[in-house]
Amino acid sequence: MWGNITLKAITLGRCMCIITGASKGFGRALAHLVLNYLKTGSVLLLVARSRPLLQQLKEELLQNLKDMQEITIFCTVADLSTKEGVEDTVAMARQQSLKEIDHVLLINNAASLGDISPFENFTELERVNSYLAFNVSSVLALTAGMLQAFPPRAGLQWSVVNCSSMFAVQALPSWVLYCTAKAARDMMFRVLAVENPNVKVLSYAPGPMDTQMQEDIRRLTGIQYHLHPCRDSAAKLMRLLLDNDFVTACHVDFFDL
Ligand SMILES: NC(=O)c1ccc[n+]([C@@H]2O[C@H](COP(=O)([O-])OP(=O)(O)OC[C@H]3O[C@@H](n4cnc5c(N)ncnc54)[C@H](OP(=O)(O)O)[C@@H]3O)[C@@H](O)[C@H]2O)c1
Repeated sequence: MWGNITLKAITLGRCMCIITGASKGFGRALAHLVLNYLKTGSVLLLVARSRPLLQQLKEELLQNLKDMQEITIFCTVADLSTKEGVEDTVAMARQQSLKEIDHVLLINNAASLGDISPFENFTELERVNSYLAFNVSSVLALTAGMLQAFPPRAGLQWSVVNCSSMFAVQALPSWVLYCTAKAARDMMFRVLAVENPNVKVLSYAPGPMDTQMQEDIRRLTGIQYHLHPCRDSAAKLMRLLLDNDFVTACHVDFFDL
């Protein structure tokens, strides 16, 4: 405290930061923003399938590094819908030396829209399983792998962000895949929070943003939401992470802030 003013963190510390789905959209905006808050010695691990987009992002980030800010940036080209993709990502993170790291920040951002179709059309188990494998199972397996790689302990801040949606809590006709996956992810992280009080968990619904996913929604449904730039939503998430006074496992929406 300084008089009546509470001094809040202005950095995320010396951080091991993993962002899935970093090649485009919200994940890419987050990567740009997070860089400003990483202390020297931090590691930033960017995960997606598109090698050229990740490489281009890495070059942009390296150009934006401040003088004396030494951050190691890795790209992991991985399909997180596969066992190999999840394992390679955990292995890449595990290889980093963490002697001086004081914060592990895992941002589970990657997701897909899936088919938008009436409930009774989802008769094929494989089609449903394939969607849930990427959007639910891989998030659990990746987070579990990271918890094993960097066991939570006193003195190590551990934060997990689950990129959620208003559709985790609001049912929308024909969106059974997306709504189910987002609701499952919120609950998954509520379980982690009650199981492990050393891990701080945030389910953040970033609001409608101008991304590839929204282009797909427009093409498939004809619905045009009022969209916000990704960087505005990323800034709200970053404020939450820096202040770190959210209640663990809460679901926070862009419009609540
Ligand atoms: N956009 C919105 O209005 C909105 C609203 C609410 C919530 N959200 C949530 O916010 C998050 C980001 O959304 P967004 O709109 O930025 O999505 P997006 O534009 O579709 O980008 C998705 C990201 O995930 C990656 N990805 C997709 N499939 C992958 C796979 N199998 N393995 C690894 N990476 C994969 C993509 O990269 P590659 O193609 O290179 O793999 C891309 O970087 C998602 O969780 C979404 O549900 C978005």
